[in-house]
Amino acid sequence: MKLFHALAVLIIAWCAVIGRSQAVTLEVRAGDSTCIKAELSASFSIPYNTSSSTRTAQFSLPDSATADTGSSSCGTDSSSPWLVAVFGPGHALGLSFSTNGSLYNVANLTLQYNLSDTSVFPGADSSDVVTVVSSSVGIWATVNTTYRCESPTTFRVGGSTVTFSGARLEAYMPQNELSPTESVCMADQASTTAPPTTASTTTTPAPAPTPPGTPERGTYSVNNRNGTVCLLARMGLQLNVSYFSLSQNKTVQELVNLSPNETSVSGSCEASSASLVLTQEQITTLNLTFTLNSTSNKYRLSAITLLANWSDMRGPFQASNTSLDYLRSTLGRSYMCNAEQTLAVVPTFSLNTFRVQVQPFEVTTNQFATAEECQIDQTQMLIPIIVGAALAGLVLIVLIAYLIGRKRSHAGYQTI
Ligand SMILES: *[C@@H]1O[C@H](CO)[C@@H](O)[C@H](O)[C@H]1NC(C)=O
Ligand SMILES: *[C@@H]1O[C@H](CO)[C@@H](O)[C@H](O)[C@H]1NC(C)=O
Ligand SMILES: *[C@@H]1O[C@H](CO)[C@@H](O)[C@H](O)[C@H]1NC(C)=O
Ligand SMILES: *[C@@H]1O[C@H](CO)[C@@H](O)[C@H](O)[C@H]1NC(C)=O
Ligand SMILES: *[C@@H]1O[C@H](CO)[C@@H](O)[C@H](O)[C@H]1NC(C)=O
Ligand SMILES: *[C@@H]1O[C@H](CO)[C@@H](O)[C@H](O)[C@H]1NC(C)=O
Ligand SMILES: *[C@@H]1O[C@H](CO)[C@@H](O)[C@H](O)[C@H]1NC(C)=O
Ligand SMILES: *[C@@H]1O[C@H](CO)[C@@H](O)[C@H](O)[C@H]1NC(C)=O
Ligand SMILES: *[C@@H]1O[C@H](CO)[C@@H](O)[C@H](O)[C@H]1NC(C)=O
Ligand SMILES: *[C@@H]1O[C@H](CO)[C@@H](O)[C@H](O)[C@H]1NC(C)=O
Ligand SMILES: *[C@@H]1O[C@H](CO)[C@@H](O)[C@H](O)[C@H]1NC(C)=O
Ligand SMILES: *[C@@H]1O[C@H](CO)[C@@H](O)[C@H](O)[C@H]1NC(C)=O
Repeated sequence: MKLFHALAVLIIAWCAVIGRSQAVTLEVRAGDSTCIKAELSASFSIPYNTSSSTRTAQFSLPDSATADTGSSSCGTDSSSPWLVAVFGPGHALGLSFSTNGSLYNVANLTLQYNLSDTSVFPGADSSDVVTVVSSSVGIWATVNTTYRCESPTTFRVGGSTVTFSGARLEAYMPQNELSPTESVCMADQASTTAPPTTASTTTTPAPAPTPPGTPERGTYSVNNRNGTVCLLARMGLQLNVSYFSLSQNKTVQELVNLSPNETSVSGSCEASSASLVLTQEQITTLNLTFTLNSTSNKYRLSAITLLANWSDMRGPFQASNTSLDYLRSTLGRSYMCNAEQTLAVVPTFSLNTFRVQVQPFEVTTNQFATAEECQIDQTQMLIPIIVGAALAGLVLIVLIAYLIGRKRSHAGYQTI
């Protein structure tokens, strides 16, 4: 056990060393002017198959990565700006940008990896060059400002993930250097210190909020345009938000329960996506979006957005992650989980769920279809069965031992 512990610590330490990546600077130019510049560290986690199993390759964007002049571009009327960083034998990371004039964003991430590279993918059963593309990743900034995000942020690209940290980047650049004005990502905002406030009111620090206990279970439903119920949910929800508290003059971690009686419900149902929007007292809005994969007939909770404008906040708090994979189940079934679950959304916001049953697609006659129970519940149900079986086994052994003992002593008497 001790050896195992030491080994685990060693492996974690080793991963930390390997995983720590250097910031790489990448630049795309057209003529003399720079249109995209990015300084960032990136690490990758890519599952691949060997002849006998599935492994995950973990590596970082090396210092030697460069912007590929052939495929990168500043964009034309018909194509969008694209930064393509190439490294190693045929690996690449692409960031495609788009803008609406006032904001720009990373429209998608492209990851290309060469399974023939045995130093990264030892034992791969294929030698293909694989390309995967993400959907929108939620990197937004105001035009003429630099996007900055020190916090590690993970994006799903196909089955793989890319984690950026210490990122500073800009597209549609007005000059050749990163703009001095920054658009700071949400994840960083909670941890930065307060700007010098001019308010000099001496507020007594609010007492630390008492934990709110288990949230009440609410029943929520969304109707489609026909007025029939298309999404059903029954669950208790608790927000775990870290934000800068004005009254306490520091970042606080607060747990807030959604009270079903104070929550209004809206949402929408489309063929392959359905949203449940819960609004509590007009100051907290939680948007849960489910996506259906019509190839596999599986659905999942793919996006969570929280908007909170609490009185003690410096400004409205907004957090969003659109590449999630929670509450997975099969079309025609509902998802159920009685155990408490924590759904991590961004570093400053997670959602705790209690006694969930949800069905975002194919609801008929206002009722939940047969439930698919989560793994934790199944394991928890197994425990009493295993304990029971073990007890039964023990009783049996004692009984047999007793019977044998009785027979022996019986035989003993006869020989005398
Ligand atoms: C690994 O192989 C299995 C079975 O052939 C396949 O379903 C899965 O998609 C493969 N995974 C990867 C990462 O290629
Ligand atoms: C993939 O890697 C192999 C071995 O390192 C190399 O021969 C091949 O050219 C690479 N493919 C691409 C597209 O770069
Ligand atoms: C760009 O998009 C943002 C967010 O969707 C919106 O607030 C803004 O008005 C848009 N600007 C223009 C010029 O369309
Ligand atoms: C990535 O986004 C750009 C800009 O919106 C778009 O032109 C391109 O087609 C997208 N690529 C993929 C593979 O979706
Ligand atoms: C960005 O800066 C350029 C050059 O300084 C200017 O022409 C343009 O109007 C600015 N755009 C916005 C949206 O502020
Ligand atoms: C509305 O009802 C009609 C007939 O019952 C159905 O064909 C149609 O798909 C429904 N529309 C929606 C948005 O569910
Ligand atoms: C709330 O989030 C923080 C930071 O992620 C974590 O340390 C804490 O355990 C969470 N609390 C609950 C009750 O989930
Ligand atoms: C808030 O805290 C900072 C340092 O922690 C201190 O410099 C500042 O004066 C405090 N502001 C108020 C209004 O108490
Ligand atoms: C909602 O219920 C909670 C307790 O369950 C209660 O304290 C609160 O007053 C109720 N609010 C409304 C608006 O009914
Ligand atoms: C909820 O989120 C989904 C996906 O991010 C979005 O399409 C939808 O418009 C959002 N709904 C509201 C009311 O904000
Ligand atoms: C849908 O599921 C199939 C099979 O599991 C998978 O190959 C495909 O990538 C999924 N599509 C999306 C959009 O996630
Ligand atoms: C947030 O709340 C404040 C005060 O209640 C209000 O003035 C402000 O307009 C709200 N902001 C948003 C985005 O709702």
